[in-house]
Amino acid sequence: PKECTLAVIKPDTSEELREEITREIRAAGFTISQQKEMVFSRDMAEEFYKQHRDKPFFNQLLDYMCRGPCTMLILSKVNAVEEWRRRMGPADPSKAKETAPSSLRARFAKDILENTVHGSSNSQHAEEKIQLVFGEISSESQVIST
Ligand code: CMP
Repeated sequence: PKECTLAVIKPDTSEELREEITREIRAAGFTISQQKEMVFSRDMAEEFYKQHRDKPFFNQLLDYMCRGPCTMLILSKVNAVEEWRRRMGPADPSKAKETAPSSLRARFAKDILENTVHGSSNSQHAEEKIQLVFGEISSESQVIST
């Protein structure tokens, strides 16, 4: 059965790289059912990453995610959650280069924090984050273009 996931292209990317990544997403057979550029408010980023609230890098993560626009994408495909995670590769690009050299993070990420892309870790999170970003709460953040 078809499944949805939320993909985020993070603020460490150029316009050119965003286009490259969305091209690759389509070429991999995902349907992009919704897309928008958005700057996270601090509150919304906190909510988005609440699962990481107690991590030592939480504040750095919020600074990074709020410093510029993100491209938010709803991807749909059979097995979308797992497949998007596989295409991203491990969070740490040095590990990604070893174990998944063709993955997006292996090719484009700077380090474990500024790692270019995000994907929901399971379909329940996907549903929750899609609601947060594309549902009514998202009106609290600044939408740059749709
Ligand atoms: P993401 O997949 O969006 O989920 C949580 C994010 O926290 C992760 O990508 C990175 O941007 C960041 N992150 C994860 N682990 C670390 C770490 N050890 N140090 C700094 N940032 C991290």
